[in-house]
Amino acid sequence: MTNADLEKIVDTSDDWIVQRTGIRQRHIAAEGETTSMLATKAAKAAMDNAGVGPADIDLIILATATPDYTFPATATQVQAALGIHQGVAFDLQAVCSGFVFGVSTADKFLTTGSAKRALVIGAETFSRILDWNDRTTCVLFGDGAGAIVLEAQEGEGTTADRGVLTSHLRSDGRHREKLYVDGGPSSTQTVGHLRMSGREVFRHAVGMVTDVMRDAFEATGLTAKDLDWFVPHQANMRIIDASAEKLGIPPQTIIKTVDRHGNTSAASIPLALAAACADGKIKRGDLVMIEAMGGGFTWGSAIIRW
Ligand code: ACO
Repeated sequence: MTNADLEKIVDTSDDWIVQRTGIRQRHIAAEGETTSMLATKAAKAAMDNAGVGPADIDLIILATATPDYTFPATATQVQAALGIHQGVAFDLQAVCSGFVFGVSTADKFLTTGSAKRALVIGAETFSRILDWNDRTTCVLFGDGAGAIVLEAQEGEGTTADRGVLTSHLRSDGRHREKLYVDGGPSSTQTVGHLRMSGREVFRHAVGMVTDVMRDAFEATGLTAKDLDWFVPHQANMRIIDASAEKLGIPPQTIIKTVDRHGNTSAASIPLALAAACADGKIKRGDLVMIEAMGGGFTWGSAIIRW
């Protein structure tokens, strides 16, 4: 769905959307196409790429705010669709920060020996919770899914090791009113629609994500100059640029795909990672920082040696 398509639905313009957000198009799931279907496709692609099969995965974390059903967890549907019958699968709800929270959680399972090989998926069908009459929100979001495989291996305990080197998560529920969905099983017995004070979110976003990025640098002794790639949550070009500039991250290392898929919440970072790998940018051994901020508020960062 292009910005021109949106001009036919609400009073907006390609100019306004591009100037304020950098978004040029987003993808909308087909009728009947659910979050678990998108997640399963992404998971299969990640497993093929990693050279692992259904018998190899013993942890599935699916980050989503748009599950197929209230229960069972969408992750268990993906587990079944992939033919995985062992281990554990569960959903993780941290909205736009979901993928970073998922990577961090999987890393804890792997480093404590509770799992050997994890599938972390970010998958969303935000088109189903948008108010298509509200131009302040419906132009920003899209549907999509992305996934990675993480495997436990012995390392040296240095930043030369491959895998998740550090991760930092935070939340502060006092910010609920700035970004939320106005429905749910226990409150309204409806699914509800996304509501957002865009300006308020913007005001907090840069400070919060740069805080947790600093945490990651302090924990590892690494600096912005050490990063090969910076892969931020793809919400908005202006938030991405302002965060990178604040920490002195070189512009040529920033992966930006928000123009192609809009804000896909938990799916945005793995979509950006997939695009950067396909383009031949991110390669084995590269140092990659991911970060996100979303409803709650929740926010987090991680540094990964690819
Ligand atoms: N098309 C045309 N005009 C619009 C649209 C639209 N789609 N939406 C709002 N406007 C109008 C408003 O009505 C307002 O008009 P007015 O001045 O006559 O009242 C004018 O544009 C300016 O509106 P603002 O809301 O002040 O615009 P702002 O410059 O703040 O940009 C935006 C809005 C893009 C939402 C910005 O606040 C933003 O990027 N916020 C961050 C939100 C975000 O990315 N959220 C994602 C979820 S959280 C996360 O992932 C980090």
